Amino acid sequence: MKRREVIKFIDGEKGSDSLMERREVIKSHRDSHRDSVLERREVSALMELAILVPCSLFLVALIKFMYDYLWRPLRIQHMLNSQGIKGPPYKFIHGNNKQVIQMRREALSKPMGLTHDLLPFVQPHVYSWFNKYGKNYLSWNGNRPELVISEPELVKEVMRNSENAFAKGNPSVYIRKLLGNGLVFIEGEKWEKQRKLSNFAFHGERLKNMTPAVIASVETMLEKWKGQEGKEIEVFREFRLLTSEVISRTAFGSSYLEGEKIFARLNKLAIFAGRNAFKTSIPFINTFWKSADLLESERLEKEIQDSVMKIVKKREDKVMNGEADNFGNDFLGLLVSAYHDSDDKNRLLMQDLVDECKTFYVGGQETVNATLAWSVLLLAIHGDWQEKARREVIGIFGNRNPDSDGISKLKTMTMIIYETLRLYGPSNGLIRKVRRQVQLGKLVLPGNLDLQIVKAAIQNDPQLWGDDVHLFKPERFAEGIAKATNYNAAAFFPFGLGPRSCVGMTFATTETKIALSMILQRYTFTLSPAYIHSPMPVITHRPRHGIQIILEPLHNNAKGTHSS
Ligand code: HEM
Repeated sequence: MKRREVIKFIDGEKGSDSLMERREVIKSHRDSHRDSVLERREVSALMELAILVPCSLFLVALIKFMYDYLWRPLRIQHMLNSQGIKGPPYKFIHGNNKQVIQMRREALSKPMGLTHDLLPFVQPHVYSWFNKYGKNYLSWNGNRPELVISEPELVKEVMRNSENAFAKGNPSVYIRKLLGNGLVFIEGEKWEKQRKLSNFAFHGERLKNMTPAVIASVETMLEKWKGQEGKEIEVFREFRLLTSEVISRTAFGSSYLEGEKIFARLNKLAIFAGRNAFKTSIPFINTFWKSADLLESERLEKEIQDSVMKIVKKREDKVMNGEADNFGNDFLGLLVSAYHDSDDKNRLLMQDLVDECKTFYVGGQETVNATLAWSVLLLAIHGDWQEKARREVIGIFGNRNPDSDGISKLKTMTMIIYETLRLYGPSNGLIRKVRRQVQLGKLVLPGNLDLQIVKAAIQNDPQLWGDDVHLFKPERFAEGIAKATNYNAAAFFPFGLGPRSCVGMTFATTETKIALSMILQRYTFTLSPAYIHSPMPVITHRPRHGIQIILEPLHNNAKGTHSS
């Protein structure tokens, strides 16, 4: 607009087209005003949204946090307290973990002496709370309630699980990396399928066929012992090699050397699992930040996965190249065949295959390693039982290598193994989770409650075993487990109870009996003065400083022949 026209417009003079123009200007003025108001409203709505959304998200997270870490724990604590279940009070976020770590640190710092009463040293929190609050008590792993039960009737009900009310528990992230999602943790149809396969691999004729491989592995170990007479031998390490070799040969058709890296990495993972057992996972922080142990575990997990896949590939290649016409009859062969099964229902995924291998590498090695080592310690201390066992072995096998028939006749040795497992059996409690609200005995338990069955507390309970409970007395089992436990199935169950009991039980006892027989045929042994008694819980009980014995050769040395 020219200046004169603007003045006209402002003065309200009526030119021929001024009204139109005025309207135009006013309209555009209004439009731009409305636009800017709208824009401002939009901006402020966006700003409100930008504040409101995170605020409400934060509020929801806060409510959930307070529910998970305060309301639910206190509610469950109240619910169980009102039914007579007591325990150390819940502490915000950490539960009782800090107390447990402190108690374990203190217990491990004290000299132990040569006692078989392990509970006060290896699980001092269980020992202390069991005595203070009774056989069933409530404790807190972070914000997760854990009902620890040792009352045999309740234990039986949980382990038999006839109503399917108890699931396998949630393992820690480290245990998950160690065992993967293998047989120990899976449920439902997948468990049924994989359990059938493992049963088939570790029982009956297949198990009998493993005997020569076990004997050959023991012979290799004993060959190394030649020339060591009168010197100190550290048997935990010796049995580590032996049991690794046995499971490699029998289940995976390879040697210890081939699986060496897998074992070394699994061993590291087991140590991480042990030392992080009572570390609380801090909400939010652990989502974004990983500890050095966790990062290292992730790396180890990946490397184990790669190594197992290489072993599988080797097996597959043999069939592809025409070197073999099937994947083999051992456990690995059955797994690889299942992986290639054309029927979807029977087929195993590669991840399941890898996880099963990890489970059996660990389960097949760690447990027998410890059982053998503690049996030898007990026999080294109790020369009378060593002599009884030797007499039995020589009576049955003479100087010959053990055979399946003779193994089933080893009564004294069975008693010794049971007593060893009672005193030194694997340390971990058996974990279960309550699926839904359920009645257990007189108790009403809420869903999603963790249960822990501490076998060590039951197997060391003087009320069940008498005042000599902490003494090594294999004669308890002279007339079998039922008589020793007064027909109480939940007083002694080293291999578990009910449907989820150990699939490797016969394999483990056979291997232990063969190795002990072959040692007893050749040597007498005593405990070295250098030995320091310090069992520590890492999946099983491991001797912190090893077990040193001194060997003396026997007069009637076994020839190691297979003839009868
Ligand atoms: C002295 C040696 C052993 C002891 C004391 C032992 C102990 C146990 C116990 C107590 C359970 C039950 C766990 C539960 O109910 O939550 C179990 C399960 C299991 N064990 Fe063993 N075990 C031994 C040797 C072995 C061996 C040699 C293998 C493998 C060859 C093995 C593989 C397994 C597997 C795969 C399971 C899970 C079974 C399932 O859930 O269906 N164990 N073991």
